[in-house]
Amino acid sequence: MRVLHAASELYPLVKTGGLADVAAALPAALAGNGIDARVILPGYPPVMAALGEAETIFADANLFGGGRARLLRSRLDGVPVPAYVLDAPGHFDRPGNPYLRPDGKDWPDNHLRFAALGWAAARIGGGGDRDWRPDIVHAHDWQAGLAPAYLTHGEDERRPRTVLTIHNLAYQGRFPPESFAALGLPSSAWSVEGVEFYGGVGFLKAGLWYADRITTVSRTYAKEIQTPEQGCGLDGLLRGRAGDLVGIVNGIDLDVWNPGADPALPEPFGIDHMSGKAAAKADLQRRMGLRVDQDAPLFGVISRLTWHKGLDLLLDALPGLVGQGAQLALLGSGDAELETGFAEAARAYPGKVAVRIGYDEILAHRIEGGSDIIMVPSRAEPCGLTQLYALRYGSLPLVRGVGGLADTIVNAEPENVAAGTATGFVFREATVEGLAGTIAWACALHRDHDVWQSMQRAAMEADFGWAKAAREYEALYRDLIGRDLMER
Ligand code: ADP
Ligand code: GLC
Repeated sequence: MRVLHAASELYPLVKTGGLADVAAALPAALAGNGIDARVILPGYPPVMAALGEAETIFADANLFGGGRARLLRSRLDGVPVPAYVLDAPGHFDRPGNPYLRPDGKDWPDNHLRFAALGWAAARIGGGGDRDWRPDIVHAHDWQAGLAPAYLTHGEDERRPRTVLTIHNLAYQGRFPPESFAALGLPSSAWSVEGVEFYGGVGFLKAGLWYADRITTVSRTYAKEIQTPEQGCGLDGLLRGRAGDLVGIVNGIDLDVWNPGADPALPEPFGIDHMSGKAAAKADLQRRMGLRVDQDAPLFGVISRLTWHKGLDLLLDALPGLVGQGAQLALLGSGDAELETGFAEAARAYPGKVAVRIGYDEILAHRIEGGSDIIMVPSRAEPCGLTQLYALRYGSLPLVRGVGGLADTIVNAEPENVAAGTATGFVFREATVEGLAGTIAWACALHRDHDVWQSMQRAAMEADFGWAKAAREYEALYRDLIGRDLMER
C-alpha cells in the first residue's frame, strides 16, 4: 500500500508545533509496518538545505503566480521516508516562520502558496510521478486541505482515496472570495458543496468536504468539534460527516523523546534509575536561573503562547504557585501580551519564575526532563504532545480535561492513586480558581514521596509510542481501499 502524506511542517526541518512531529513520525511508523509511505512538503530554505540527490518529477513555469517551480523527489537529512519537495522559490524561499512575515502578519499570498502544496500532492496522486502512484493521499490541516478538492475535480477515474486529518480546527485557512479565481478549481467548486465557507474560501472546509475520510487527533476532540461551542463554525458539516470521522490519538517518537538517551540531559534516567531525573532538575534550575532546590515543586511549560493554550490563567495563578514554594520554567512564544506578561513575572519573582521567550528544541527537552510537573492548561487541545513527552520523562502532567488531554492523562483522584493508575492532575473549569486549586493539589502530593514515585512509574510505563496509532490508520486506509475495490 502506498500512502502520500501532505503537510506544511516536518520535524526536524520546519516546525511551529505538534503538526511537524506527527507529519514526521506517522509516516515513519507506517513505513515500519511495511507501508510505502512518503511525504510532500514545501521547499522552505531548511528543507532545500537538507536535500540529497534529487530527481525532478515535473516543472512549471509559473505555479500559482509564484514563478518557476519544480517538484523534486529526494531523501532529506533526518527524514526516514522518501520526500517530495515543492521547490518554488517565489513561494517558499522566505526565512523564518512558514506562515508569517517577519512582522508577525500572515503572508498575503498564503492561499497561493498552500494551494500549490495541495495541487502538487494531487498531481502525484493523479499519476504525476510515473514511478510511484499513491493509493491514499493523506492531507494534514488546512495547508494541505485543497489536495482532496483537486483530486475530486480531476479527470482521473482511478483517483487515490483521500484522508484529511484535523490537527486544530481553530486554524482554517480562510480567504476572501476574490481568491477563488486563482485556485484553478472549476466554478462548480464555488459552492457550499465545495470550497465556499461563509462567503469566502475555506481551505480546511474544502478538505472536510471533499476528503473520503476525516480524522482528528483524539477521540474526545472528535466529539467536541461536532458541538456548536467547539466546532468553530464547522460543527454542522462535521455532524453531517460523523460516519466518516474518527479520532486517533497521536503517538510520540520514542527515539527523539527518550530520557534513557537524550543528549540534552546531563545523565540518562529511567524508571529504575531515577537519580538522573534529579540531576536534570538541578541542571535546569541552574541554566534558567532558578534557585537550585530539589524540594521545590518545579512546574514546566513548553507552548505556543496563545489564548487557546490557557496560559493567561497561569499568569493569574502565579502568585499562588510561588506562594506554595513552587517554581516555574516556561519556554514559549506567541501573543505579545502573554510574552510581556511572563517576562514581567520573571522579573517580579527572580529565582522562582524563569521565562525564555523564543523557540528552542534543546531547552524543550531540558524542561521536559527537569520539571516535576508539565502544565498544559488549554482551553481547547486536539491532542497535545507535551503532556505525552512529560509522561515518558516522569514529569507528571497537570492539564485541563479537554480533547486529547482528557484522553491521555489519568487524574490523581484518590481511587486512581490507590489503584496505581494515576499519571497526572486534571482540572475541569477553565478558571483561575480551577487551575490554582489543582496546582495546590499537585504541590501537596509532591511532598508525599511514595505517592509521587508511584505516579511517576505509572506515567513512565504508559505506552504512547506510534505503534497503536499507526495500526489504526492502516486499518482506516485498508477499509477505504477495500471499499473502493468493491465499488469498481
Ligand atoms: P501545538 O501543536 O498546538 O502547538 P502540541 O503539544 O501538539 O501543541 O505540540 C507542540 C510541539 O511544539 C511540541 O513538540 C513542543 O515541544 C514544541 N514547542 C512548542 N513551543 C516550543 C518552543 N517555544 N520551543 C521549542 N519547542 C516548542
Ligand atoms: C495541533 C494541536 C495539538 C496536536 C498537534 C498534533 O497543533 O493544537 O493539540 O497535538 O496538532 O496533532
